[in-house]
Amino acid sequence: MGLLDGKKGLILNVANDRSIAWHIGHNAIQHGATCGFGYLVMGDADKSLRRAKKSIDELGISDPFLHTCDVGSDESIAAFFAAAKERFGTIDFLVHSLAFANKDYLKKEQGVFTQTPREVYSQACDISAYSLIALTRAALPLMPNGGSVVAMSYYGAEKVIPGYNVMGVAKAALESTARYLAYDLGEKKIRVNCISAGPIRTLAAMGVGGIDEMLEYTPKKAPLKRNIDADEVGKTAVYLLSELSSGVTGETLYVDAGFNNVGL
Ligand SMILES: NC(=O)c1ccc[n+]([C@@H]2O[C@H](COP(=O)([O-])OP(=O)(O)OC[C@H]3O[C@@H](n4cnc5c(N)ncnc54)[C@H](O)[C@@H]3O)[C@@H](O)[C@H]2O)c1
Repeated sequence: MGLLDGKKGLILNVANDRSIAWHIGHNAIQHGATCGFGYLVMGDADKSLRRAKKSIDELGISDPFLHTCDVGSDESIAAFFAAAKERFGTIDFLVHSLAFANKDYLKKEQGVFTQTPREVYSQACDISAYSLIALTRAALPLMPNGGSVVAMSYYGAEKVIPGYNVMGVAKAALESTARYLAYDLGEKKIRVNCISAGPIRTLAAMGVGGIDEMLEYTPKKAPLKRNIDADEVGKTAVYLLSELSSGVTGETLYVDAGFNNVGL
C-alpha cells in the first residue's frame, strides 16, 4: 500500500530530472499519487516544453499533466490552476519547489550583498517567497477537503552562507510565510510545511556562488558525514504530503544530514 494512494497533487516547477520537484514527483508516484507538474518557459517556448516533457516522460506516466507557470505573473498562475481544475477537479497536495534570484548578486565575495539593488531584492522575494501565498491561494478552490502544502527552503534562511545572499533573505521570508499560511489555513485542514534541504547539484544551485564549498563542507561537518541527495528530499516530502504527518504544520524539517545541528 502506498502512503499517497488515491491522492492527487501539483508540483511546481520541474526544469529537468535533477530538479528536486522531479524527485518529489518520482517518490509521490511510487507511493500511489497522481501528480501534475508545472514548468517555466525560458526563451524558446517549444524548447522549454520539450526539456520539461523529456524529464516527465521518464516518470512513466501516461498522458502527464504538464502546464507552464510563471509565478511572477498572476495571469499565468490563474491559467495553470484553471487547467489543473479541469484535469483533476480537486487536489490533496501542492509542492512549491522553485526560486529565483539574479546570480550577479549570489557571489561569495564579501561586499556583494551590500550592493543588492532594490529590484533584485524584490524579485528574489516575489518569485521565491510571495509565490507561496499566490500558489496556495490559487489552489484553495481545488482543496475543499483540506490538504498538504510543502515548500523548499535552505539553511541560508537562518545563518549566513557566503554567496547565498539575497536568496537567504527570500528563504527566511518563505519559511515565515509558510508559518503564517499554516495558521491561516489550519481551520480548512490545510497544513503548510517547509523542507530545508542540504546542498544538491541542480540547475538553480549552479547559480549560487558558494555551492562548491557548501558541498565540500557538509561531509566534513554533518553528523552523517555526507551530502544528501534529491531522492532523500523526495522521501521526506512524501511523509509531509501524507497522513503520517497529519499533526504537523508550520514546521521546517531539515533534510541535511544533520548539518544544522552542528556548531563547530
Ligand atoms: N539544490 C539545492 O541545493 C537546494 C537546497 C535547498 C533548497 N533548494 C530549493 O529547491 C527548490 C527547487 O530548486 P532545484 O534545486 O530543484 O533547482 P531547479 O533549477 O531544478 O528548480 C528551480 C525551479 O524554479 C523555477 N523557476 C524559476 N523562476 C520561476 C518563475 N518565475 N516561475 C516559476 N518557476 C520558476 C525553474 O523553472 C525551475 O524549475 C528551490 O526553491 C531551491 O531554492 C535547493
